[in-house]
Amino acid sequence: MQSTLSVLALLASAVVAVPDTRSPGSPSSSVPNTFPDFTSCLSQPSVYSCENTTQIANTCCSPTPGGLVLQTQFWSTYTGLEKQGQKLPKGSWTIHGLWPDNCDGSFEQYCDLSRQYDPAPPAGVPAYKGPGVDTFIKEFGRDDLLEYMENYWINQGAPNKNFWAHEFSKHATCTSTFDLACYGPSYKKNQDVINFFDAVIRAFHQYPTFDMLASAGIMPSNKTSYSLGNIQNALKSQTAALPYLGCSHNGTVLSEVWYFSHVYGTEQYGTYKTLDTTTASTCSSTAPIWYYERTKTSEHEVRK
Ligand SMILES: *[C@@H]1O[C@H](CO)[C@@H](O)[C@H](O)[C@H]1NC(C)=O
Ligand SMILES: *[C@@H]1O[C@H](CO)[C@@H](O)[C@H](O)[C@H]1NC(C)=O
Ligand SMILES: *[C@@H]1O[C@H](CO)[C@@H](O)[C@H](O)[C@H]1NC(C)=O
Repeated sequence: MQSTLSVLALLASAVVAVPDTRSPGSPSSSVPNTFPDFTSCLSQPSVYSCENTTQIANTCCSPTPGGLVLQTQFWSTYTGLEKQGQKLPKGSWTIHGLWPDNCDGSFEQYCDLSRQYDPAPPAGVPAYKGPGVDTFIKEFGRDDLLEYMENYWINQGAPNKNFWAHEFSKHATCTSTFDLACYGPSYKKNQDVINFFDAVIRAFHQYPTFDMLASAGIMPSNKTSYSLGNIQNALKSQTAALPYLGCSHNGTVLSEVWYFSHVYGTEQYGTYKTLDTTTASTCSSTAPIWYYERTKTSEHEVRK
């Protein structure tokens, strides 16, 4: 009896030791809060982004003006950092990002230099020299998120964390539902960064490109090529919209896909309505398109 009680006391003190960023009186949880405070959105009209922007008064509630949301992915055959263990996930494309295009397809970038974490930004934007965004994720106790990102959000020729920082500072700072004001008075530094990374992964899960192509018999191959129409039809038949497809090597090697959508509600938790691309494909409409198999040593199994 005595020992059971002391074990319980130990467990209780372990729970208390978990960092807690919640405001007093909120329900108990061992996961630190990274959610925005969207209670003010209850009084807002419900509209899809870009479909009636005159109705959107509170830009925390719908991405505005960047209401044409793109979930973008890569198909690459190597990373260049295989020796350091940076490999590609078997059976999956990889994440590029989640971009807030304006309704006409133009876009802004690096909108808030107070949240600039990109170590290699373009000219005119100061380079970030502080701790990597991976340390932000660890501070919030989100090892699960970090593990997922290391598996599916892969950089080429530089560490993954640099790419995540680039995507946040270039795009999320221009997405109104991630504005600092949307987190309310209890905002904790970098909770917007974690909230964005979670949102990117949620959006990525809506578009399993590898599986959608495989279900139409389109598998990576170094022997069989496909036509642009084959690939477009496979994706359109499942998402009800035509994504942008990007090709390298003069339009002959498939390397990218961008899914366009309007969002009903917030980018974090709202519903995505997938729409046709506003950008013409860079893949040849006449030449054979190669969807190459990856270099064997550049891939690893990440599914459990
Ligand atoms: C947009 O919303 C306003 C205000 O509710 C309304 O008057 C207008 O008719 C709407 N426009 C469209 C195109 O639905
Ligand atoms: C690239 O593709 C275009 C159109 O298919 C073709 O006219 C051109 O010769 C190609 N260029 C090279 C360098 O292969
Ligand atoms: C397939 O071809 C690509 C492009 O040449 C190459 O990088 C890759 O290693 C090849 N994969 C296999 C399994 O041969």
